[in-house]
Amino acid sequence: MSLLEQIGKLKEEALGELAEASGAKEIEAWRIRYLGKKSRLNDILRGLSNLLLDERKEVGAGANRLKAELEKSLSQKEQALSRKQIESAGEEYLDVSLPGRSLPVGRLHPVTQVIDEMSQIFISMGFQALEGPEVEWDYYNFEALNIPKEHPARDTMATLWVDYETDGGDRPMLLRTHTSPMQIRVMEKAQPPLRVVVPGKVYRYEATDATHIPMFFQIEGFAIDKNITMADLKGTLYEFSRRFFGRDRKVRFRCDYFPFVEPGVEMAIECAVCKGSGCRLCSNSGWIEILGAGMVHPKVLERVNIDPEVYSGFAFGMGIERIPMLRYGIDDIRLFYGSDLRFLRQF
Ligand code: PHE
Repeated sequence: MSLLEQIGKLKEEALGELAEASGAKEIEAWRIRYLGKKSRLNDILRGLSNLLLDERKEVGAGANRLKAELEKSLSQKEQALSRKQIESAGEEYLDVSLPGRSLPVGRLHPVTQVIDEMSQIFISMGFQALEGPEVEWDYYNFEALNIPKEHPARDTMATLWVDYETDGGDRPMLLRTHTSPMQIRVMEKAQPPLRVVVPGKVYRYEATDATHIPMFFQIEGFAIDKNITMADLKGTLYEFSRRFFGRDRKVRFRCDYFPFVEPGVEMAIECAVCKGSGCRLCSNSGWIEILGAGMVHPKVLERVNIDPEVYSGFAFGMGIERIPMLRYGIDDIRLFYGSDLRFLRQF
């Protein structure tokens, strides 16, 4: 019998026996017999060097093919066996003592947490929370807020304009630079009494650094009714400060100018780091400005057909990111939007 014939016969024999083998022991014995050091196949492979070149090639290739085939069949057989064992073990295979797989727990972004907390304070004072569009008309962002085309106040809000084909008319579109346009949108639709807060994103065309980013959050608030006065504005913001920053934190109002309020104010809180004595964080003033506010300008009310002789109101607008920055001593606003989980997981 030629070597090639012997290889063919060996294959038949080996696969036949493997098919018959049932337990792990039998399979192992089969492996030693057909793939072990002393197997016939190994003898053939070892004897190759004694053959003439042509024959060596042919026999070598055949023997190696057989070896690969037997190894493959063996691993299939082993897999089938272990599958069968698992199946026959049935329910007993369940190991109830194994620890469960824990799922990663998500959490709210620190800015979202602050928005929720602030909104909740105002909601408990009778305000309702609304949201508005981030892509806005010039009309709502400026014009209706008493900031006409050539008004210098436009320069203080570096605007991102949206290139938009208008339908023949002149309706410039932009990314809102503050949440105040929602004052107009709400008053256009609803009659006083109104008490509304509007958290949301605003955009300004500014270079990025530790305290500036082109997208940030504000929360707007306003109340319109008969007999609303500056005292209501101050009372509301004092109460907010007490609940959010604590009873002992001092609050200061000073005059400021915004075209859509008269009079206008800014509110500052006592610096948390130096307790008012002056430090780097508060530029040695002891105070940190957190919002602009004032009494809604009669011209703004007139524009939305609310009679300023009958109604009055206050409005305020606060930057959001500064608040957790002050609270937790975060010195770079970009951390909020870097998606670095090592930072975000701390909140
Ligand atoms: N919209 C103003 C700003 O972004 C803040 C503000 C809101 C001032 C409401 C007065 C009243 O600077």
